[in-house]
Amino acid sequence: MIHRLMMTSACALAMALPGAAQQAADQVDPEIAVDLPAAFDGLSEAAAAAWASRSEGRPVEGERWMVAAQNPIAAEAGAQVLRDGGTAADAMVAVQAMLGLVEPQSSGLGGGAFLVWYDAETGEVTTLDGRETAPLAATPRLFQDDDGEPLPFWDAVMGGLSVGTPGTPALMEAAQRRWGRANWAGLFDDAIAVAEDGFAISPRLAGQIADDADRLMRFPETAAYFHPDGAPLAEGDLRTNPDYAETLRALAAEGASAFYRGPIAEDIVAAVRGAEGAPGLLSLEDMARYRVIERPAVCTDYRGAEVCGMGPPSSGAISVAQILGKLEAFDMAGMDPQAPETWRLIGDATRLAFADRGRFIADSDFVPVPVGGLIDPGYLAERAELLRREDALTEVPVGTPEWDHALLQASDTDPERPATSHISIVDADGNALSMTTTIESGFGARLFVRGFLLNNELTDFSFRSHEDGWPIANRVEPGKRPRSSMAPTVVLRDGAPVLVTGSPGGAPIIVYTATHILAHLDWGMDVQAAADMPQLVNAFGTYILEEGTWAADLAQPLEDMGFEVSIGPRPSGVQAISITEGRLSGGADPRREGIALGE
Ligand code: GLY
Repeated sequence: MIHRLMMTSACALAMALPGAAQQAADQVDPEIAVDLPAAFDGLSEAAAAAWASRSEGRPVEGERWMVAAQNPIAAEAGAQVLRDGGTAADAMVAVQAMLGLVEPQSSGLGGGAFLVWYDAETGEVTTLDGRETAPLAATPRLFQDDDGEPLPFWDAVMGGLSVGTPGTPALMEAAQRRWGRANWAGLFDDAIAVAEDGFAISPRLAGQIADDADRLMRFPETAAYFHPDGAPLAEGDLRTNPDYAETLRALAAEGASAFYRGPIAEDIVAAVRGAEGAPGLLSLEDMARYRVIERPAVCTDYRGAEVCGMGPPSSGAISVAQILGKLEAFDMAGMDPQAPETWRLIGDATRLAFADRGRFIADSDFVPVPVGGLIDPGYLAERAELLRREDALTEVPVGTPEWDHALLQASDTDPERPATSHISIVDADGNALSMTTTIESGFGARLFVRGFLLNNELTDFSFRSHEDGWPIANRVEPGKRPRSSMAPTVVLRDGAPVLVTGSPGGAPIIVYTATHILAHLDWGMDVQAAADMPQLVNAFGTYILEEGTWAADLAQPLEDMGFEVSIGPRPSGVQAISITEGRLSGGADPRREGIALGE
């Protein structure tokens, strides 16, 4: 049972923030759940305190280490590793192994992830790409019917066709080998124990199982796990997952190769190729060939801070940099966070960024991407000139960034679904890790193998391969990685990290991350207040304002400016840590089930 305390978060925040910024951080629900939901009974007092802290709009404070993850059981697994002297990379393995069990609908072994690492010893920022790959047998027409028309979205998602070669197990191993110091096998102990002893289904997971009942029932193994005895798992039900424990034991004993070769790989391929009514193309060769790729971090200056994140195949860092880079031309710190004019600027800066994203950004191993041109300060200043007006843009032109290629491409517009999970960690050595991890839509392809779900990441490709005869950069190609919006970010000042952030949520991830950075740097909100702030997202033309918050009150003024507006849920999931003069503050988005834990 969730106990509710009648206290507005505006009230709780009143002492923490200056005037307008404090009001802007007002939470979604005026009633705050202060106690941990019963599904998380048995966790530490620190977890309960962290939940209360989040509910009251206060960040969790620490001096040595901090972990913020989207589920309290997973955050605790990471905290234990950090308490025992492990690095952020060690803790990430424990958090991810647990998330795959207790939040299986969002991320796990069957998915992919991007990781940003700040190394305290060298001062360097490194990014690792653990994104899924399209099978070698895939063609640009993977998601088209016989007439070349795109398949209906859910027809493409469900079953084997959408499953890319998973990257998360390889990423966990690559990061831990490089930056970890703990015994690899021991990092799986907690998740194995919980998988065998059972965990209580959380409120959010229960809701999603109920909402997705028809799709989950389509495949027998998936139905048997989520609907045992024909009824959906409900909040508080105890669920064991011995198959997952066995999979983790194999990973613990043999490393990621146990996943990519041998019986686990064979079962994954069999499930994909044998999916009833929707067989896919994944092969044992695809599994065996999978590699994590180290890519150059995309870092840009924003008001003297350096914002670093993941480049292609993610559009995350480039698009965040484009939004912030255009807003830098305006006095955002002097603007009221609740004023329609403020959101006119942010909304149209976002639309312009998404216009470029749809035209230029894809897997740069397959198509040239003008990364330098897209984040060039001169180019962004030029684009910012388009925003010097009083009403909404009537046209949202694709830009002409400097580029050494003569290439004509068409734009794509396929949005992604709002699932995914985010992990932020700072360890006692001062290393910082930001990782966004996903199986794409909630419950991925709905195929359940060896205790985990398989991704539907390939639907992040453009279903259309061409438009008016011009190729689309993000078309399907064999071995290619689908464009992502995931934006794991580390912000540095004078070469040291000051903010570790990121969010789940599909294409709006870019906006959730950019506005979290903006609220913290420009409006002085702490990480929790910035995560609490209502969400307003305009990526593709319609301004979606978070229901039940002051954002909805901006509907009329934004409409008067010429925006198309709708009001609805905005399920961000920011998990973030700030570092100020050696002190750590952790925040977790109240829209999901995360907490920050630190000491
Ligand atoms: N599938 C979510 C993303 O990669 O953006």
